[in-house]
Amino acid sequence: MKILVINGPNLNLLGRRKPEIYGTETLEDIMNELSVFLAGKDCGAEFLQSNHEGAIIDRIHEAIGWADGIIINPGAYTHYSYAIRDAIEAAAIPTVEVHLSDIHDREPFRAVSVIEPVCIAQVSALGKQSYFVGAEILLSKLQ
Ligand code: DQA
Repeated sequence: MKILVINGPNLNLLGRRKPEIYGTETLEDIMNELSVFLAGKDCGAEFLQSNHEGAIIDRIHEAIGWADGIIINPGAYTHYSYAIRDAIEAAAIPTVEVHLSDIHDREPFRAVSVIEPVCIAQVSALGKQSYFVGAEILLSKLQ
């Protein structure tokens, strides 16, 4: 089993970006922990953080043929990137959308996800635990 983990724009600034909302850990800290967690479940992982929509889309395409699943935190692209939505749909790789914060209890624009309809699940509001719960959901669907 091998999955692709994608983090979108501004998530490279975790740790210093609005810690009251996103926590104090860096993305590297969280991804290292996720990597260990997945390895413990016999699941390999590749990781991408990008601030660029096209790079995220290219990586989703590249995952066709090797990735059994995708975990994606699309950052603000969540709310308007029909191109990332279409890439996930076209790749047809089971995908879980995750968010650190509660996107349903912030500014109104964050409550809408154009990505959710093409995902098997959306996990939000659990801080870094959203990634681990998302991984559990994904792996349970892939068994
Ligand atoms: C986020 C929520 C988005 O609304 C925001 O643009 C982000 C982070 C989250 O993880 O809570 O960049 O995806």
